[in-house]
Amino acid sequence: MLSSIAKRSFSSSSASAYKVAVLGANGGIGQPLSLLLKLNHKVTDLALYDLRGAPGVAADVSHVPTNSTVKGYEPEGLQDALTGSDVVVIPAGVPRKPGMTRDDLFNTNASIVRDLAKAVADYAPKAAVCIISNPVNSTVPIVAEVFKSKGTYDPKKLFGVTTLDVLRASRFVSEVAGTNPTNERVTVVGGHSGITIVPLLSQTNHKNLDEETRDKLIHRIQFGGDEVVQAKNGAGSATLSMAQAGARFAGSVLNGLAGESDITEPTFVDSPLFKDEGVDFFSSKVTLGVEGVKTVHALGELSSHEEALVQEAKDTLIKNIQKGVEFVKQNP
Ligand code: 2OP
Repeated sequence: MLSSIAKRSFSSSSASAYKVAVLGANGGIGQPLSLLLKLNHKVTDLALYDLRGAPGVAADVSHVPTNSTVKGYEPEGLQDALTGSDVVVIPAGVPRKPGMTRDDLFNTNASIVRDLAKAVADYAPKAAVCIISNPVNSTVPIVAEVFKSKGTYDPKKLFGVTTLDVLRASRFVSEVAGTNPTNERVTVVGGHSGITIVPLLSQTNHKNLDEETRDKLIHRIQFGGDEVVQAKNGAGSATLSMAQAGARFAGSVLNGLAGESDITEPTFVDSPLFKDEGVDFFSSKVTLGVEGVKTVHALGELSSHEEALVQEAKDTLIKNIQKGVEFVKQNP
């Protein structure tokens, strides 16, 4: 009797098994992200990698009683961590300090992400790869360039995680409108830094906000990360909310891989939307499926104000993307 109860409670709720690797698992984002992924019942094998400390995080997280194995890996174990992964989430890198933009992180994080991308290309070439490391507008093109040079690039399987902008938009709009944030859905498009973040409020119930309130709200969504950087006062940037955002996005990717229908999230992908204007990557609503990206959705109807914001975002994105591409060319 006892053994049949034990057996039942340990049987997976899903027929599929998924290995997820977190690269940078001992960091401020990596630790809570690993915990949240341990709580995802689709994850059956969790591989936690970092330069140091990942075995400790893995031992800790492994005591949470969900039906997945957890293993920690240090640098000599990167190949084992990646091999067989269906999804790779990369929060590795350094965070911002007060006064820094995400772009100021470029010099340090670009090479970290490039080197991890090389390992992913070698050991998990079929994985869906979710990039959290900043500046996302440049690190995603860096990964794409590395994958192209290795002959493993699949544009359907590379994602920049912009979900925190979506979470902030829900939260901040609810504070202005006095609504329940869990019911707020705001599509945020463009990229993941400053003015490249464009919330489409005209597509919500809040299209009639007065101009001053609207502008303040948009500014807060665009620069919400700075509030956390300032409040942490030198100790880094958003980690807990970013972990929640990363876990939600990785969960959606897994739901898509599992063949669930109508899994749609805004994300920064190799996008056809503005390629003719030189913008190779752009965030918009994306439906996720068994191959990764299933459909990249157009932006839909925009207000004239949003049209102007999207134009500004595109101008900055072209430079951010080019910077990533150039980095890999100069530092292969
Ligand atoms: C943020 O938006 C860390 O990029 C992250 O705060």
